[in-house]
Amino acid sequence: MKRIIIQFGGTGDLALKKLYPAYQHLMEKEFPFEVLSLGRRYTTREEFLANSVDSDAPSSFTDHLDYLYYDMAEANVVALLSAKLKEMVGTETEVEFIYYLALQPSLYEDAIHQIKEVDASLDCVCTLTKKIVVEKPFGFDLESAKRYNEILEKAFTDKEIFRVDHYLGKEFMQNLLLMRFHNDIIRRIWDNRTIESIQIIFDETHGVDQRLGFYEKIGVVRDTIQNHIMQIITYLTMSEPASLSPEDIAVEKEKVLRSISSVEDYHMGRYESLGVNSGHVVQTPTYAAFKLFVNTYYFADIPIYVRTGKMQKEAKSLIYIKFKNITKEVMHDQGIAENAVIITIHPELTIDISMNLKMPNTSWKSKPVRFRFNQSETFGVNTPEAYEQIVQKILIGDKSLFPTMKEITESWRIVEPMLAEEQDVEVYPIRTLPRFATQLAKENNFTWFD
Ligand code: BG6
Repeated sequence: MKRIIIQFGGTGDLALKKLYPAYQHLMEKEFPFEVLSLGRRYTTREEFLANSVDSDAPSSFTDHLDYLYYDMAEANVVALLSAKLKEMVGTETEVEFIYYLALQPSLYEDAIHQIKEVDASLDCVCTLTKKIVVEKPFGFDLESAKRYNEILEKAFTDKEIFRVDHYLGKEFMQNLLLMRFHNDIIRRIWDNRTIESIQIIFDETHGVDQRLGFYEKIGVVRDTIQNHIMQIITYLTMSEPASLSPEDIAVEKEKVLRSISSVEDYHMGRYESLGVNSGHVVQTPTYAAFKLFVNTYYFADIPIYVRTGKMQKEAKSLIYIKFKNITKEVMHDQGIAENAVIITIHPELTIDISMNLKMPNTSWKSKPVRFRFNQSETFGVNTPEAYEQIVQKILIGDKSLFPTMKEITESWRIVEPMLAEEQDVEVYPIRTLPRFATQLAKENNFTWFD
């Protein structure tokens, strides 16, 4: 079978930074497929290759990477794309088209209509199967996500639709599930009888950079909270699935999301220099901090504190699970630290369990000691990038790493209040934490994990 990925947004940031490296690695591993990149930036394939791909990229990749100048606003594009695809199909008898939309959500509607027209106009004598891949954020809000989905489902079956959130391709996410469900000692303590609170911290040092055009219409809530953060919360709090099949996992994730009320306790910020060179005023939020609860029997009453955003002093991605500390009261010793599990994603993947153990040469004094798992020390550094895993699953048609539409709509409902147009946005100097993050901690009597 000949597989062709038709890459919408083929000269965009996502394609260049994440997708092409993933395609290259997969082709080097001899996954057979072709890529047709669609874009407006270059007129010829030569120009595209010279500007988009490393000059030393192997021919095992570049020989399978084609380009078509494609301006969605022009009248003849459908005919051009059909002709190009026909040429690429040649005399093949079994073909699969994978339409990959790495586009602004506002362009989805037009793209899907054009794909339908291409499908209708293609008169190849081959057996044609198809898939469509849509990136996060899927939609702009709850209403548009539902609308896009209706259009999508008119043209594709659910089996053919892959909704990407690349966090599901990350090693730490998959490890989170295995750590929880393949270890009885963890499984038995993972609920509101033992856990006191959870912190999710995703601080990034970089700003919006060349992505301003995309980001200013999106902001932090659509960019990472509606998708990555909500997915992390489901993996942290879902109940044991009947099996690790995509369907069984989805059932449990959906339950979690349905139990979460829309976020009302939140704060937004924007870094001072956002868009200064753009010639126009940019007011998009780039940082948020909030609190929510998962209202299931096992997690009710555990506050989950989240802070995430751009232009911070330190790149810090971690999940801090703090356990209750009854011992402190029973032993009348306020110095006894709480037990905790700390999952660090950046700068490297580690999992620490913090326990109190005796300090030598003291009379019953304990000190928190960390037991650490380090992914690269234990398993080596060669874990594939998240996008490589995602693309591989798409190619083989395995839907285990993709959120369902129900998950996506529930996530939009949860973040909906945070999308309000009119709201206070604190302007923070770059490399500093917005004041509201510290305030949230103070009001809720906790300290952000450092
Ligand atoms: C992307 C967002 O989905 O995720 C970016 O659009 C963000 O703004 C990125 O920086 C973070 O992903 P990763 O894989 O670098 O942790």
